[in-house]
Amino acid sequence: MPRTLLVTGGAGFIGSNFVHYVLENTDDSVVVLDKMTYAGNAASLDGLPADRFTLAEGDITDAELADRLVGEADAVVHYAAESHNDNSLSDPSPFLQTNLIGTYTLLEAARKHGTRFHHISTDEVYGDLELDDPERFTEHTPYNPSSPYSSTKAGSDLLVRAWVRSFGVQATISNCSNNYGPRQHVEKFIPRQITNLIDGIRPRLYGAGENVRDWIHADDHSSAVLTILDKGRIGETYLIGADGEKSNKEVVELILEAMGRDADDYDHVNDRPGHDMRYAIDSSKLREELGWAPSFQDFEQGIASTIDWYRANEAWWRPQKEQTEAKYAKTGQ
Ligand code: NAD
Ligand code: DAU
Repeated sequence: MPRTLLVTGGAGFIGSNFVHYVLENTDDSVVVLDKMTYAGNAASLDGLPADRFTLAEGDITDAELADRLVGEADAVVHYAAESHNDNSLSDPSPFLQTNLIGTYTLLEAARKHGTRFHHISTDEVYGDLELDDPERFTEHTPYNPSSPYSSTKAGSDLLVRAWVRSFGVQATISNCSNNYGPRQHVEKFIPRQITNLIDGIRPRLYGAGENVRDWIHADDHSSAVLTILDKGRIGETYLIGADGEKSNKEVVELILEAMGRDADDYDHVNDRPGHDMRYAIDSSKLREELGWAPSFQDFEQGIASTIDWYRANEAWWRPQKEQTEAKYAKTGQ
């Protein structure tokens, strides 16, 4: 039976990719609840079928609105968040509001209506690993977040766990690694460097550029979330990752070469305070228990398509570029 999914934060990067994925691959309908902050972009939802898609502009901390929309949905997929570490260092306040109070507000609505709830979270709740650590993050790794962003995401995960245990909310949680793909805000690492190069600016690596992130294509994140929504066990956490570890330096070199520039044509800039060194996900539980596997195996190919997307969609990112770079200029990044 086709469902109605309430997708919070569906005008953002990963949420909008999920909405496209659901509408293309299932018969479900989607209602997006999004505040349209600086990170929400209505153009990311252009061209979706009007009979299966609605955009509701609003705040997840608005209890009355959350109650109505959650009550009308068969399931909630909760992406809405303040998502950028650098922003959380300059002003943590919206992170506490949206990530903690917003998640609490949605959980209360899900509790009242008995609505299935899937909470989208991040591998950053586990803190970081040393470069030579043989272990990767698993569902049993202790929480140890480093930044205002990741600590509020960790708090939101704990709220979900408590609402499952204390109130029987029908929830699952997933913690995913770094996503790449189309429609990502130009404040984030990969789109920032691609759009800098389009503008003739040299890419900027924080510190020595040795930090490692575990990259996954946004469509693989979407297929994993749908799998968990359909087959995940209530109360369980699933880690999502595609074995995509790369240092920031390697990623910048790859982007430079793909865009026809010398691989060393970049600058080192001020490091991020508290900068996590390495994230790495062991997604065995998701693969073995629910039979999920990623489709995007070739990172170079994925980066090449992402570069093509930013070249072809300048009207999408151009309005955000100048303001984003002005913010970075203040911190020497
Ligand atoms: P994003 O910043 O691109 O999008 C966030 C969206 O949430 C925006 O559309 C914004 O308008 C909306 N929003 C913010 N505050 C809101 C509020 N109070 N009410 C309603 N809507 C609000 O973020 P993203 O990178 O797409 O991340 C989405 C989710 O995935 C987040 O929960 C994030 O923690 C998680 N996540 C992200 C990554 C990644 O690599 N980007 C990896 C793992 C998990
Ligand atoms: O791991 C999942 C997380 O990935 C998500 O929870 C976050 O929402 C998402 O923003 C992302 O967090 P990161 O902090 O890892 O992503 P970001 O794109 O900001 O940076 C990636 C790496 O690149 C990080 O080590 C910092 C570095 N960096 C970033 C920028 C913007 C640079 O070296 N230069 C830059 O210009």
